[in-house]
Formats: sequence, structure tokens, C-alpha cells
Amino acid sequence: MPFAATGGLGDVLGSLPSAIKATAGDDVDVRVVVPYYSAMGQEWKDKCETVAEFEVDLAWRRQYCGVKSLVKDGVVYYFIDNEYYFFRDTLYGNYDDGERFAFFCRAALEMLAKIDFYPDILHAHDWQAALSVVYLNNGYRHREGYSDIKTVFTIHNIEYQGKYDFAILGDVFALDADKKGLMEYGGCINLMKAAIVCADKVSTVSPRYAEEIRTWEYSHGLDGILNENAHKLCGILNGIDYDYYNPSTDKDIAVNFTWRSLKKKAMNKLALQREIGLPEREDVPMIALITRLASHKGLDLVTEKIYNIVENNDVQLVVLGKGEAEYESFFYKLEERFGDKVRALIMYDRALSKRIYAAADVFMMPSKSEPCGLSQMIASRYGAIPVVRETGGLYDSIKGYWESGEKIMGNGFTFANYDSRELEERTLAAVALWRNEEKRTKLIGKIMRTDFSWKNSAEKYLDMYASL
Ligand code: GLC
Repeated sequence: MPFAATGGLGDVLGSLPSAIKATAGDDVDVRVVVPYYSAMGQEWKDKCETVAEFEVDLAWRRQYCGVKSLVKDGVVYYFIDNEYYFFRDTLYGNYDDGERFAFFCRAALEMLAKIDFYPDILHAHDWQAALSVVYLNNGYRHREGYSDIKTVFTIHNIEYQGKYDFAILGDVFALDADKKGLMEYGGCINLMKAAIVCADKVSTVSPRYAEEIRTWEYSHGLDGILNENAHKLCGILNGIDYDYYNPSTDKDIAVNFTWRSLKKKAMNKLALQREIGLPEREDVPMIALITRLASHKGLDLVTEKIYNIVENNDVQLVVLGKGEAEYESFFYKLEERFGDKVRALIMYDRALSKRIYAAADVFMMPSKSEPCGLSQMIASRYGAIPVVRETGGLYDSIKGYWESGEKIMGNGFTFANYDSRELEERTLAAVALWRNEEKRTKLIGKIMRTDFSWKNSAEKYLDMYASL
């Protein structure tokens, strides 16, 4: 963000680097390396200057590499340019992703010598960048400037590991046969595993997820290697970009508001109802679901109970997202059945998503697993009451509501088990609370003031870097 992004990782890499820079100022020099994707907006491409051009060897291949650069919010960005690899319709999901990201990692390391900049820390994110850590330890350490670089590898989602057939080891990844042991896990090449072994520190995006991925239930097979490397592992909760997600200044929503002006929040609901053709009523609680329509997001729980919830209660439901066909058609049918209560918006649309966050009263996020999750934080910022399952970053960011005399505790509704009855019960509890104006004002005020900015977490990253 804002150059090219698909999901949460894009949000994080769009805001964490500048947050680190803003926190530590002249004490740090933060530079980010990403592919020069064709999806990048022309306004950004125009701002780039070419700072290096060279060739990168990868096994028998020799490929052109241009390095383009610009500075934004005190952070230097480098874009690795190779049209053959990165001018595609999507950022990833191609048959040759292994080769594309091996090239990217190799190019990023080669670049350091060309621009004569050797960082103290190389911080690689997810499997696409895993080979940079592996290559650094295997083929670069003898070179001046590279010998002392420390490494951090961050797991944003352990489900996606970069798994390949052995045939790719020498021919594409350009690694000798004696690296097979390092690269192998569970009968195939596993890039995430190799980075976990090579990195000095392994982090993930919430403290709870750092514990969960050490168990077989959550690790997608990697718990063994993570337990062996447990001394390297830590969890740091993500933040969100408080300027981009700011209901008091956001140009994408109908009416700006703060926790002191919740009446104006209600005007966003009326505006959205008008926009998507639902009955315009301030008094009806609106439930929102904004997510990739994938099963680990807890869609099975939703589909089991949402029919009942909508049929038996005076509520509206707005769904935004794309994904597995079975869920898409489920929500289309639900809209067909309850035309005056349900809207299924099967698409991605960032601006529309913000209008929904601003309009919604209750936000559902019942994930089966969730490394961090950003939507519950965005929903909170825009005054929608989150209903979440207690897993990963959802557990770390949302605490269950309860009343202690006059005081209210917590900042949302939570449930422990992956059980649709618990989701239904907590959702209806959130709806019931919303109908009580006094309690609603108190709770939403508290939710909107919960600090999900990068301030605390940027400090934690700086501490981790310093420890290296
Ligand atoms: C991945 C995770 C999500 C996390 C994001 C950013 O998309 O699934 O939980 O918030 O990465 O770290």
C-alpha cells in the first residue's frame, strides 16, 4: 500500500515502515524492497527514478533487473523491475511464482552491492521473501558488507508456505544438492521452513498466534520446526494506518464523525442504505461481514446461522467480499430470499468497504484461525461493535463485554469455541446491546477510543531490531 496490495500484508507493509521511521526518526534508516508490479499506479511510476541496472543469475538463467526508487514519508522504496516476471494480471498465483520470487530475493540481495547500502537488519515477510534469508546465509556471507547482516522472518499467515517439488531446487532456486536437508520439510521443498531455520528471529503478527502455531491444530505442519526454533519466536500485534482509516477525515464516507458525534455515524447508515437499496431506517441494526469468502474466515459458522438471525430479527445484513463459489452463491441466495434485509456485494472495493464500516453497527469476524486480522480494528475505529472468535490477533485485540456496576469492561463480543451457536448467541447479544441507546453510546465510545495505531507495536519492532 499504496503501490500494489491484495490483503492485510499490503496494509501492514504500507504502514509499519513509516511508523518505525516516525517513532525512531534519525536513529533509523528504513528501506523497503518490493517488485515493480504493473498494477502500480502511473502517478507512482512517474515519481520513480532508476537507481541501478544489472543482470541477475539464477541457475542457468540470466535476467535483467532494474531498480527504481522513490521516497515517501521518510522511507526509501526500491522496486525490482523485470517485466517478464512482474507485469502480470495478478501479484501472485501464477504457475511460476517460485521462480518469480526466487528472482526477486536474489535481485534484492544483489542490489545492496550495486547501491552500496548494507542494512544491519534484513526483514523478510512471508514465503515470497523467504529465499532472501536463505540466500544470504548460503552464498553471500563471504562478501564484504553481507557478513554481519542480521535477519528477521515474519509469518503473516502460516497456511501459505511456498511448497515445491525437489526438482526445483537446483534448476530454479539455484541451490546445491547439499541444501536439500535445509530446504526439505514433510517430503517437499518448503520455503517458509528454510527461512525459519536460517533467520535470527522469527516473528508473527500477534502474541497469541505465536503460541498457536506451535501446535498441530494451527501450524499447517510446521509446529515441529517452530518448537525447535522457539527461542527465536515472538508475536507483535499489527496496527492500522490511523490516517488512512480515520472516520473524522475520511473522504470516502458520507459524513465524518467521532465517538462524540455518533448521530453522524447513523447518517452514514442512511446513506449506505440509499446507495445499495435497503430500507432507509436509522433504528434497524446493521450487521456487516467484510472478508475474503474463505472457510478459515469462519464462513461455515456464518452460513449455519445467518438465515435464522435474519429471518427472526429486525436487522439488516451487508456482505462484502469475494472467494469460494459455494459462499458466494449462498449469499446471493440469501439476498434473493430477504431482499429488503440483505445485500450481497460480491466484490472487492476499498472505498465501499469504508462506507460499510462507517454504516455498520455490528461487525462479524468468527475466524477459525486469524494471525492478526485488521478488519476488527478498522471496524472498531469506525464504531461498529466487533463480534469475534477468540483466536490469534482477534483474541489479543478484542476483549469480551461485561458490566461491572456502572462501568463497562471489554471492547466487543467474543466467543471461544468454533461453534455456530456461540456466534449466533454473541451476535444477538451485540444487537440487543445496540438497541439500548445508553449502553450503545458508552460501549461504542470506548471501542472507538481503543488504540489500534502502530505506536506501541512500532516500539516493539524497534526493540526486536535492537536485540539483534
Ligand atoms: C495475513 C493474515 C491476517 C493479518 C495480515 C497482516 O493476511 O491472514 O490475519 O492481519 O496477514 O499481518
